[in-house]
Amino acid sequence: MVEVTLKDGVNWVGVVDWTLRDFHGYITYRGATYNSYLILDEKTALVDTVKGTFSGELAEKISELTSLEKIDYIIINHVEMDHSSGLPAIAKLAKNAKIIASTRGKDALIKHYGPEFERVETVKTGDEIKLGKRTLRFIEAPMIHWPDSMFTYLVEDKILMPNDAFGQHLATSGRFDDEVDEHTLMEEAATYYANILMPLAPLIARKIQEIQQMGIPIDMIAPSHGIIWRKNPDKIIKAYLDWTSGAANKNKVTVVFDTMWGSTEKMARAIVDGAASQSVEVKLLKLRGSSNSEVMTEILDSKAVIVGSPTIHNGIFPTVGGFLTDATGLKPKGKLWGFFGSFGWGGGAVKGMVETAKNAGFEVYPQSVEAKYIPDAGELKKCFEFGQQIAQKIKV
Ligand SMILES: Cc1cc2nc3c(=O)[nH]c(=O)nc-3n(C[C@H](O)[C@H](O)[C@H](O)COP(=O)(O)O)c2cc1C
Ligand SMILES: [Fe+2]
Ligand SMILES: [Fe+2]
Repeated sequence: MVEVTLKDGVNWVGVVDWTLRDFHGYITYRGATYNSYLILDEKTALVDTVKGTFSGELAEKISELTSLEKIDYIIINHVEMDHSSGLPAIAKLAKNAKIIASTRGKDALIKHYGPEFERVETVKTGDEIKLGKRTLRFIEAPMIHWPDSMFTYLVEDKILMPNDAFGQHLATSGRFDDEVDEHTLMEEAATYYANILMPLAPLIARKIQEIQQMGIPIDMIAPSHGIIWRKNPDKIIKAYLDWTSGAANKNKVTVVFDTMWGSTEKMARAIVDGAASQSVEVKLLKLRGSSNSEVMTEILDSKAVIVGSPTIHNGIFPTVGGFLTDATGLKPKGKLWGFFGSFGWGGGAVKGMVETAKNAGFEVYPQSVEAKYIPDAGELKKCFEFGQQIAQKIKV
């Protein structure tokens, strides 16, 4: 094994899940990693485990650096199974290790893996464990990503291990930000934020502020997914601040639709032309062909989102309904939403979409466009004007 060292005595022992394409419904075109870190000092600590199917690989990596029986602490920053399902197997081998988690982490470990985890010791913000030359300090981070989540900070090495925060689903041979393509890295960091963390934007902004106020220096951010921010940790902090505040929103319109016989698609194309005539950036995505994860990434930096659905059985087409469930749950900040669609007789899709968006508290453009069966020239003109008006609105 090639050793991956963050700093002397701090090693990455995680696994790369190269072929993963679906992470609980989030489409991971570029695979994923589960990062685990081994800290070798007078005492030895393992920060986070990996997905259970890879616990053998984790044990092998650890044993190349030290005996598992020498592990004194296993820190569980987050109980979600991508990080903790390797724990039962590792805990059996690391017989002498104390398991450390937040109070809610302990409860969740017991619920996931049984009463043997009653022995978990709990920590709260500010608590420290001395390893020798190094100190682990804990910062609770409830709801980033689950109620149990916490960050571990290596005081002397100035390394923040924030688990899910600042991660990306990206399988690469490089482990650090200076070893991978920067554009790919930021695209995957954006996709990860948009699909996992976006609904938690206010909490994340507050947590970043809290950490900045603690005045703790950060040389590296070592999340539990993807690459480690070694060269430029400030870059991902700045990106998170822009995403959480809406400052990343640009003059961009994302048009999303689905269609049975092509009418809603004709409308979508006219809307795209109308928006593009106002010199804004426009993206058009068809839901059967694009994953919701991909669409949410496009929406992340858009100021407007225009959604089209044909009417089916008096309501919204299923892929569009599913997308709206996802989008209203993820709560993208500061977007203007518009709706359109084709129908045959009573309609219902546009009304349903508008209601869904309003119920979610989204800002909805007051007009919608609908066309009976195949849109005629007049209806296509209305679509063009609709795109034009929404683009003009976001430009001011
Ligand atoms: C299975 C099916 C169910 C439909 N249900 C309705 C309906 O309940 N109300 C309605 O107004 N139109 C209904 N329509 C008509 C479509 O909304 C209409 O054909 C529309 O132009 C389709 O747009 P598209 O080409 O974008 O799919 C239905 C069509 C199909 C194929
Ligand atoms: Fe998580
Ligand atoms: Fe995770």
